[in-house]
Amino acid sequence: MTQSPRHFLTLLDLEPDEAMSLLRRAIELKRLRAEGADYLPLAHRTLAMVFEKSSTRTRVSFEAGMAQLGGHALFLSPRDTQLGRGEPIEDSARVLSRMVDAVMIRTFDQGLVERFAAHSRVPVINGLTDRFHPCQLLADMQTFLEHRGSIRGRRVAYVGDGNNMCHSYINAARLFDFELRIACPADFEPDADVLQAAADRCDIVRDPRVAAKDADLVVTDVWASMGQESEQDARAAVFEPFRVDAAVMAAARPDALFMHCLPAHRGEEVSAEVIDGPQSVVWDEAENRLHAQKALLELLILGGPR
Ligand code: CP
Ligand code: NVA
Repeated sequence: MTQSPRHFLTLLDLEPDEAMSLLRRAIELKRLRAEGADYLPLAHRTLAMVFEKSSTRTRVSFEAGMAQLGGHALFLSPRDTQLGRGEPIEDSARVLSRMVDAVMIRTFDQGLVERFAAHSRVPVINGLTDRFHPCQLLADMQTFLEHRGSIRGRRVAYVGDGNNMCHSYINAARLFDFELRIACPADFEPDADVLQAAADRCDIVRDPRVAAKDADLVVTDVWASMGQESEQDARAAVFEPFRVDAAVMAAARPDALFMHCLPAHRGEEVSAEVIDGPQSVVWDEAENRLHAQKALLELLILGGPR
């Protein structure tokens, strides 16, 4: 491959119209699967999946997605590859990308994914870093589109930690053109550079009910992300007022949706009555990881639908 490959390291690697087409394509691929249609455009193609953190949804959706498109996915963990024994990431990128057709990486440092991509001959997909989780946002945006139509000009409330999910919601506000109100504790705000770039669309408040006022979508995420397990107790104390419960949902529009990337902790960031209640679309959201990423693989590996 002589042309430089197309990567997906943050949501902003997509143009707004491309992102919308990708969501529509995801809905089409979902329909094709429901109809039992065979569509195997990635026959004989391979996706390498590098996981330096745990995963259920990301692993299964990419692996099943590749199989459904006729290809193959292979799981690589640092525990049993040379990645865990100090082989430089640049060398791993050079080698893997001569053998496979795309690489997905879940790791801690966004910079590592960028370095990998800079030395890869094939598309690299960010499967979550400490800073961003762009694949999750494709699924979330697909889910909103399916349930409520275009998110453009709508209000979204993000309640909780200014983490990778929050950063990706900020990027989504730019890409899909919605208003985002973030309710987070003072010491847990999103990174200033990410926020600054979306300053005209994003607002930070301290009260989840203020954030949720008239919102069309209320979102939250865990209080302690992967890698922050030792901070769990300290964070639980600070985040106690930042739970999405019935009172927060009552501040939103009556038809507001609730989303959570999962895994969730009932009684912490979300009450059971909300996540298991009628406004919650978390199972559709989780399923849509599969369809949205199939559309993404098609775009990055083939340049679009075949
Ligand atoms: N939402 C999400 O990325 O889930 P996993 O950690 O299970 O992949
Ligand atoms: N913020 C969470 C998301 C998990 C999908 C984490 O990084 O652990």
